[in-house]
Amino acid sequence: MIRFWPEAASDTAVQVDSVVLLLLAVSGAILLLVLALVLGFAIRYRRGSAAPRGELPELLKKEVEVGWTFAILLLALFIFSWASVTELGALRPDPEAIEIHVVAKQWMWKTQHPNGAREIDALHVPRGETVRLLMTSQDVIHSFFVPAFRIKQDVLPGRITSLQFRATAVGEYPLFCAEYCGTLHARMGGTVTVMEPEDYARWLAAQPEGDDLGREGAALFVSLGCAGCHNGSTVVRAPGLAGVYGRDVNLADGRVVRADEAYLRDSILQPRRDVVAGFEPLMPSFAGLVGEDELQRLVAYLRSLREGGSP
Ligand code: CUA
Repeated sequence: MIRFWPEAASDTAVQVDSVVLLLLAVSGAILLLVLALVLGFAIRYRRGSAAPRGELPELLKKEVEVGWTFAILLLALFIFSWASVTELGALRPDPEAIEIHVVAKQWMWKTQHPNGAREIDALHVPRGETVRLLMTSQDVIHSFFVPAFRIKQDVLPGRITSLQFRATAVGEYPLFCAEYCGTLHARMGGTVTVMEPEDYARWLAAQPEGDDLGREGAALFVSLGCAGCHNGSTVVRAPGLAGVYGRDVNLADGRVVRADEAYLRDSILQPRRDVVAGFEPLMPSFAGLVGEDELQRLVAYLRSLREGGSP
């Protein structure tokens, strides 16, 4: 069977499709117009025809040129704004979203749900709820691509990228890697399964109990020795981390940065880059000592710390 239009199973898919249809319609209309004119003129001005071949009529001068230039400009701006609103809307983080962590590596996708349940080359999500993926790579650049949702985002080593979608139809949809990443790139894929929310809850409860990311992060925080300095009562003075997530942090060089996932992560790997005002750059880098999985856990733990919490 030939499929003329890919299945659409998310909010974004419907919006992206309407932009594509508009572009197709506009291009088609222009193509037809040009073809009709070419054919019409070819017949009317064929060799030996009696059609007049004098001066251009007055009308076809300045006004027409200015007019069609502006019409095309307006049309292009309209398409641009519509498409960018669609794209940017999908990027704005929804605080209510279910957060799922994704780690890409040659050549598989590892996903982890908020309760700790893990999957490989598979992702189960509930229908009708916003899902936000926080993604990173353990080696090279990959790209998370679900055609049925019309979403695609590069997954980079050393950085967290995110992707958000709301699935609208129950079913199984292919997941691909869309960035050439080595020998088995073509086979790096999996399935996204959209389930009714009740089925998803049942599925999630049936998964082997994993510790949630934050709990695992708390254990790492102690075993890696972070607690030794970042615990308010110790001799070495390091910034307290309770409630740091989402706050504006004053840095020694006068800059102010928002402590988001990327900041927390970078501070673990490159602690001397953004030194907090009032502190010495004493912390060693943990680059190479902690893997991407562990970084995700540490960041999840730091995010879970409320003001007045332990460290
Ligand atoms: Cu991973 Cu291509």
